Amino acid sequence: MIGEVDNLTVATGLDFELVRIDRHFRSIRAGPLNARRRPKPIYNTPMLDYRTAGESHGQALIALVEGIPAGVPIALDVINGELTRRQGGYGRGGRMKIERDQVNILSGVRRGVTIGSPVAMQIANKDFRLDEAPPLHRPRPGHADLAGSLKWLTNDCRETLERASARETAARVAAGALARCLLREFGIDLIGYVVRIGEVVAAVPFDFPIPELRSARDANEAYCPDQSAASAMIEVIRRAKIEKDTVGGVVEVQVHGVPPGVGSCMRWQDKLDGRLMQAVGSVQAIKGVEIGLGFAAAERPGSKVHDEIDFDPKLRPTSSLGFTRRSNNAGGLEGGMTNGQPIVVRAAMKPISTLLRGMDSVNLLTRQSERSDYERSDVCSVPAASVVVENVVAFEIARSFLDKFAGDTLKETRAAYDYYLQSARSLGGMGSTIE
Ligand SMILES: Cc1cc2nc3c(=O)[nH]c(=O)nc-3n(C[C@H](O)[C@H](O)[C@H](O)COP(=O)(O)O)c2cc1C
Repeated sequence: MIGEVDNLTVATGLDFELVRIDRHFRSIRAGPLNARRRPKPIYNTPMLDYRTAGESHGQALIALVEGIPAGVPIALDVINGELTRRQGGYGRGGRMKIERDQVNILSGVRRGVTIGSPVAMQIANKDFRLDEAPPLHRPRPGHADLAGSLKWLTNDCRETLERASARETAARVAAGALARCLLREFGIDLIGYVVRIGEVVAAVPFDFPIPELRSARDANEAYCPDQSAASAMIEVIRRAKIEKDTVGGVVEVQVHGVPPGVGSCMRWQDKLDGRLMQAVGSVQAIKGVEIGLGFAAAERPGSKVHDEIDFDPKLRPTSSLGFTRRSNNAGGLEGGMTNGQPIVVRAAMKPISTLLRGMDSVNLLTRQSERSDYERSDVCSVPAASVVVENVVAFEIARSFLDKFAGDTLKETRAAYDYYLQSARSLGGMGSTIE
């Protein structure tokens, strides 16, 4: 029988039940009591989503997060801590000395706990002067200036750059840090750090506990856990500044504690590797995204790439369910789904396109050759980008996590999570399906 009542579409059959409410699919129930009539998940629009608004020199940046279950304790210090880290790092320009980013939660949270309604967050700009900011007629190669001016039919690049600016990433960090508050309820932790600046490359182990990596990372302004590489990185940035140039690099994120089966191979839109690449690749100035071994996998034979599988019953209670790998070249993702190993994402950031020495460009008013304009700018934002990428990854993990475990309340999400882990742990030797 297939019935349709307003926005509620219900199809029932002997062994399946499908429910779509508005555009947000929520698995109706999951838990031991409902085991005999579990809904077949039809992944549609993700339950968890966010948008951002705001210009670089506008009144404020806004993040609007929808779909977070009720009952999640929100740690303001976690969100503000991430915002402060985003403002820091060696190589940042004068703007970050003016701003002091703090989130003001406008909705969706009562007495420090989510209530299921959309969470609106505001980060006020101290340097608010959108109307007074001068026009820019000489586009900076590499920035959004020329493409945006042509797109929006204007000779003033100001209108594009105000939104293209990475000031917007403050809102993305707030959204990601909010999502972390959900993830930490399930023991999921993550860390982002810098692994390369220019030609300096760091060696960062994958098998270190995150708290140890975090204190090593936070011991220097390069946000790099390898202290000797960090000193060399700072020197590269210092030299670039003297030469009125800029420098890029690579950041890496590790996510620990995600159970297997988050993401899906059933629809391309639900593949977690694809979602991570889109989200990370959309961060300003990120020009390459890798999962696990990434591009290096193309150079090796299969026997040197794929992570051989073992089983250790002692590890059954962990999120790996006891399945271990001799390597983690897949970066924790196979078929667009988590496999219980740490997730590893890397992103390459190009050098900042605002150079103190300028670059050859064209004056949009006269069409004559001139040097590009200069806006107050960073020399290197790779440390700050590591914070942005870390939080953007956190949001995508939370999004796919809720696609699988759903729930209007944290209690329901936890019931579905516990039920799944219990079922997955009891699979061995019991046949291939769960009743
Ligand atoms: C954290 C962060 C800070 C940034 N700071 C600057 C900056 O100070 N000056 C600048 O020209 N670009 C900066 N960018 C990069 C530009 O926003 C970006 O290059 C521009 O919007 C064009 O987009 P695209 O590089 O993705 O093509 C920064 C990027 C990030 C992630």
